[in-house]
Amino acid sequence: MSVRMAPPLPLIFLILIHGVSSANWVVNYRHSHICALKDSSVIMSCTYTYPTGYKIKKAFWTKNPVQGVEPPDLSEDPEYSQRLQYLGDKQQKCTIRLSHVTQKDEHTYYFRFTTNVTDGKWTGNPGVTLTVTDLQVEAPERVTEGDSVRLTCKSSCTLTDRATFIWYRNSQPLTERRDRNNQLLLQSVRREDAGRYSCALHEHTYISPPVYLSVTYPPKSVSVSISPSGEIVEGVSVTLSCSSDSNPPAEISWFKGGTIVGSGRIYNISNISSDHSGEYKCKSINELGKKYSDAVTLNVM
Ligand SMILES: *[C@@H]1O[C@H](CO)[C@@H](O)[C@H](O)[C@H]1NC(C)=O
Repeated sequence: MSVRMAPPLPLIFLILIHGVSSANWVVNYRHSHICALKDSSVIMSCTYTYPTGYKIKKAFWTKNPVQGVEPPDLSEDPEYSQRLQYLGDKQQKCTIRLSHVTQKDEHTYYFRFTTNVTDGKWTGNPGVTLTVTDLQVEAPERVTEGDSVRLTCKSSCTLTDRATFIWYRNSQPLTERRDRNNQLLLQSVRREDAGRYSCALHEHTYISPPVYLSVTYPPKSVSVSISPSGEIVEGVSVTLSCSSDSNPPAEISWFKGGTIVGSGRIYNISNISSDHSGEYKCKSINELGKKYSDAVTLNVM
C-alpha cells in the first residue's frame, strides 16, 4: 500500500473495477470546502473505510502535508490542541470539530490513518479546504427621510451553514426587521432609523463592525428667540437666535420685513435704537429644503 497522498491512477481503476468500496482505502468528506464565520466552530464531517484484516493504529487529522514526510497529528500542534475535538472513532467515523476559527486556520485539512500493517497507511484526498470570513455591513452613508434603504451583511465566501442573519442598531437587536437572507430593508426611513448598524449570525458570537447610517431631512421647527426677553429700551444689546433642526445643518439668514439683514444662527444688534423696531424672521435652508420661522416683533421703547 502506498503512502502517497493521491492514489495513482491505476489504483483508482482497480477500485472502480472491484466496486467494493468497503474493501478499499477511502476517506469521504461531506464538504471539500467549508466557509465558516470567524470565531465559530467548524465541523468537518468524514467517514473512512479500509480493507478487512487491518487494525487501525492511529486516526488523526493533518494539514498541508509534505511529500515524503510523515504528516504530523494536528491535535499535537499547540495552535490546535485546545480547539480540536475528534468526534470520530477507530472504525469508520473521522469527523472533527475545530472551534474559534480565525483567518490563520485557512488551510486544507486531511484525515489520515495508519494500521498494524507497515505500508497500510492512508491520507484521504481531497481534504477539507477551510475559508474563514468576517461580516461587513454595506450601506449608503446617508439616506433621505422617506426613502427606502437596503443594508447588506457581506461575507467574503458563501457560508456553508445557512444561518439566520440578525441586525443591530446602536447595539440593540432589530427583531422585526429582517429582510430576505442577508439584507435589511428599511422602508420609508425615519430620523430615528439613523444609527450604527451591525450584523451577526444567529447563535454566533461574532458581530460585524458597525456602520453609521445618516438620515437627512429638510429644516423643521424653525423658530426665533429674543434675548433679553420683555421690554426692550434704546441703547441695550439684543440677540436674536434662530433654532432649527435639519440634517445636514442648515444655513440661516435673517430678514427684517422683506429685506435680508444678516446670516448665521445668531443675529446681534448692539446699541439698539427705534430704527430697529419691526418684524424679524429667520430662514433655514439646506440641500433638501428651506423653512421660515414665524415673524417676531421687536418693539424698541
Ligand atoms: C493486523 O491486525 C489484524 C486484526 O487484529 C490481524 O488479523 C493481522 O494479522 C495483523 N497484521 C499484522 C501484519 O500484524
